Amino acid sequence: MDAPLPPLAPLADPTSALDDLNPLPRLLMGPGPINADPRVLRAMSAQLLGQFDPQFRQMMRETMVLYRQVFETANDWTFIVDGTARSAIETAMVSFVEPGDRVLVCSFGRFGQLKSEIARRVGAQVKVIECEWGTVFAPEAIEAAVKAFSPKLVTVCQGDTSTTMCQPLEEIGRICHRYGALLQVDATASLGGTPLPVDDWQIDCVTGGLQKCLAGPSGASPVTLSEAFARAIYRRRHIEEGVRPANYVPGSGRMISSNYFDLAMVIDYWSDNALNHHTEATTMLYGARECARIFVKEGHAAVFRRHAQASRAVVAGIEAMGLRVFGDVAHKMPNVTGVWIPEGVNGDRVRAALLNDFNIEIGTSFGPLHGKIWRIGAMGYNARRDAVLGTLAALETVLAAEGHRLPRGAGVDAAYATYKAG
Ligand SMILES: Cc1ncc(COP(=O)(O)O)c(C=O)c1O
Repeated sequence: MDAPLPPLAPLADPTSALDDLNPLPRLLMGPGPINADPRVLRAMSAQLLGQFDPQFRQMMRETMVLYRQVFETANDWTFIVDGTARSAIETAMVSFVEPGDRVLVCSFGRFGQLKSEIARRVGAQVKVIECEWGTVFAPEAIEAAVKAFSPKLVTVCQGDTSTTMCQPLEEIGRICHRYGALLQVDATASLGGTPLPVDDWQIDCVTGGLQKCLAGPSGASPVTLSEAFARAIYRRRHIEEGVRPANYVPGSGRMISSNYFDLAMVIDYWSDNALNHHTEATTMLYGARECARIFVKEGHAAVFRRHAQASRAVVAGIEAMGLRVFGDVAHKMPNVTGVWIPEGVNGDRVRAALLNDFNIEIGTSFGPLHGKIWRIGAMGYNARRDAVLGTLAALETVLAAEGHRLPRGAGVDAAYATYKAG
């Protein structure tokens, strides 16, 4: 029998729907989303424009220019997909992969599993290689799988927030190309926090999100496509009936099975053809442009240094409190740290006290790690000394109040010392 529809409780007080929207000022120190940079929120309050207004088309072009810098690429097809990060992953996959194509998924956490799920829905023949949660792949392991499976596409996360691990990618693009595969990278959680020179590393498609290191809200996703990736998609171009130009000739490839996620039409929309497709999410475009502008203005090296410094401070603070950091610390993402929940401590109660008494949110975890680790993020606008020190201080107080014995003051002192050391 099919499952019944899920329960849906009514509002305790239906009149609350008419109250002003006035959320408590939470400090979001989980794996993302995090607090948006106030400049991004300001940009998003600008008045709307029509999507074919020359001012707006100009902003779209500027956004492309800025994201080419963020991605360190010369790729023409560098733009924004409207939707959260998984929409960008799905857009790339459904537009590039045809039913029956071989896709190799290198999975080291929940978001690797997401990519195999999307690839299967697209009708690909999927092979998944996995490594233990808390570790990453050696390039040789990926090479062996590419060689044995001959995929059309290899897909992998750079940072998988579920495990906090960061996969080294320097060699993977070259490995894929050696065997005739293209490489798609999900950099949702790492873009803007850790180096990702797309052209140097020969990555064919990168998808990101704004809500992590780029200090924006979720809802628009930066994407960059290599020439080879874009051409393969554009072969499948079948323009929607209502907007076909007089000289329209459909592509020779198979029609992409989604309209919204048809990257060939999205390319046409962002190109000089300016073909109508979706109504660009104006406010999200303003936000995405501002995220990139802020990043580029601060500069890659300075932003990465700020994230690395926050990571050192969190790790030092956690260890000085007598807690243990999860996983292979040498391959930890700089922006998220997994922390083993100590024996006898109720992890959910600690998170609830942090939220209710300190307005600080830290993350829980998924799958095999559920109930075992917390995830503490320090990224984007929140990769700041005050945010890190305040979080460690609050965690210490809550743990002590829960009856956990720990050296008082040691966590904040150790983290503070890493900042003093520079
Ligand atoms: C690595 C990774 N990929 C994909 C996603 C999905 O992103 P979204 O929730 O914006 O669709 C996330 C979200 O946390 C993520 O961390």
